[in-house]
Amino acid sequence: MKILLIGGGGFIGSRTALRLLAAGHEPVVLDSFEPQIHGSDPAASPTCRELFGAMEVRRGDTRDAAALASALSGVEAVYYFPAGTGTGQSMYQIEKYCDINARGAGVFAEALTAQAGNIRRVVVSSTRAVYGEGAAFCGEHGRVYPKARRLADLEAGRFATFCPVCGQPVQPEASQEEDPFLPLSIYGITKLAQEQIIATTTAALGLPCTVLRYQNVYGPGQSLHNPYTGILGIFTQLVLAGRAINLFEDALPTRDFVHVDDVAEYNLRALSSEAAGPAVFNVGSGVRSTLRDLAEAIGTGLDRPGPTKVSGQFRVGDIRHAAADLRLLTAALGPHDFMPLTRGVKTFTDWVAAEGGSEAANARFDRSLEEMRKAGLLRSAS
Ligand SMILES: NC(=O)c1ccc[n+]([C@@H]2O[C@H](COP(=O)([O-])OP(=O)(O)OC[C@H]3O[C@@H](n4cnc5c(N)ncnc54)[C@H](O)[C@@H]3O)[C@@H](O)[C@H]2O)c1
Repeated sequence: MKILLIGGGGFIGSRTALRLLAAGHEPVVLDSFEPQIHGSDPAASPTCRELFGAMEVRRGDTRDAAALASALSGVEAVYYFPAGTGTGQSMYQIEKYCDINARGAGVFAEALTAQAGNIRRVVVSSTRAVYGEGAAFCGEHGRVYPKARRLADLEAGRFATFCPVCGQPVQPEASQEEDPFLPLSIYGITKLAQEQIIATTTAALGLPCTVLRYQNVYGPGQSLHNPYTGILGIFTQLVLAGRAINLFEDALPTRDFVHVDDVAEYNLRALSSEAAGPAVFNVGSGVRSTLRDLAEAIGTGLDRPGPTKVSGQFRVGDIRHAAADLRLLTAALGPHDFMPLTRGVKTFTDWVAAEGGSEAANARFDRSLEEMRKAGLLRSAS
C-alpha cells in the first residue's frame, strides 16, 4: 500500500515508516521537521536521518491544506502523528498546542472529507494523557477516578492521589479504554480533541479508523534535542555528564514505559485490523515502573550507576501514576512479547552512547526547567 505518515519524521513515526518499508509498503512521510525536535537540519537528525533516500519525504505542515491535499493523492492508508508533545511546555505555550494538536487535526479531517476515496484506514496516535490521573482502587468505593492533585497538597509533600468520594488514599489501577476522559494538561486536552476530531470525521465518512493511546514510549531515535519531553533522554544525558538525576516528587511516580519497537509492531497490526468504525486501544507494556526503577535501569544500561537526587520538585499538570490495561489491544490485535524495561533501556543507552552525550542537551534541559519555574509551573514541596 501507499501509506502517508503525517508527522512521520518523528520518533515513533520514523520507526513505523521503516517497518512499513521493510514489510513491502510504500511509505511517504509528510513532516514540518520542527527544529525543537530535529535541530536545524532534518537530514542530520538522529531521529529521522535514515528516512532520507529510503522513501519519499516531504516537508510540510499538517495545518497547510494544500500540502495535505497534495500528499493525500493516491494514498491508501494514513498514520497521524503530528503533535506538540511536551506536557509541561503545553501549560504555558497554550495557543501553540491548541493550534498544532487541535486545529491541525481539523485541517486534516477537512482534507479527508475531500479525498477519502482511496483510503482504507486511518491510524491516529493518541495518548494515555486523555485519562488524566486514570483509575484507582478505594477500599470503600471500589474503582474510582481521582481528580487533579491540589497544589496545596503537592506543596506540602502529599503527592498521593485520593478517592474523589471519601478523600482516602487510593491504589493505582490500569486504565481501560472506557474510562472517563479527565485530561489534566493542555497537552492531554488538545490530544483528546485531536483524536475525537479525527475519529468523529472518519466515522461520518464510513472510513475505518484506529486510535492508539500510547503510554510512555522510549527507545533509540527518541529526540535528544527536545528538552520538553523524553524522560529517558534527559536522565541519560545527565548521567553521561556526571550530574545527578533529578527525581521529581518522592521518586515514586509511576509510568508504563513501552519500547518503540513494540509500539511500531502494533502500529503495523492496526493497519490490517478488521474493525469497521473507530477502534480505540491502549498501547503500553502493562508494567508500572517508578522513576527510581527507571534511573536504576539507565545506570545498569550505561554500566555507570549515576547519583540521584530526590528533589521534591513537581510540575503542575503532571499526573502521579500511569499504566495500561492491554486486554482489548491483545484480544483485537493479538498478544505480544513486550520488551522488559532493563533490556529496552539498554537498547536506548547504547544508542545515546553511540550518538555521543551532549552538554548542549543538558543546557537546553536546564533552560526548559527555568522557563517552567518562571511560569510558576515548576514548584517544590517544602
Ligand atoms: N513518545 C511518547 O511517549 C508518546 C506517548 C503518547 C502519545 N504520543 C503521541 O505519538 C505521536 C508521535 O510522538 P513522538 O514521540 O514520535 O513525537 P516526535 O516529537 O518525535 O514526533 C512528532 C513529529 O511531528 C512533527 N510535527 C510537529 N508538528 C507538526 C505539524 N504541525 N505538521 C507536520 N508535522 C509536525 C515533528 O516535526 C515530529 O517529526 C504524537 O502525536 C504524540 O502525542 C507519544
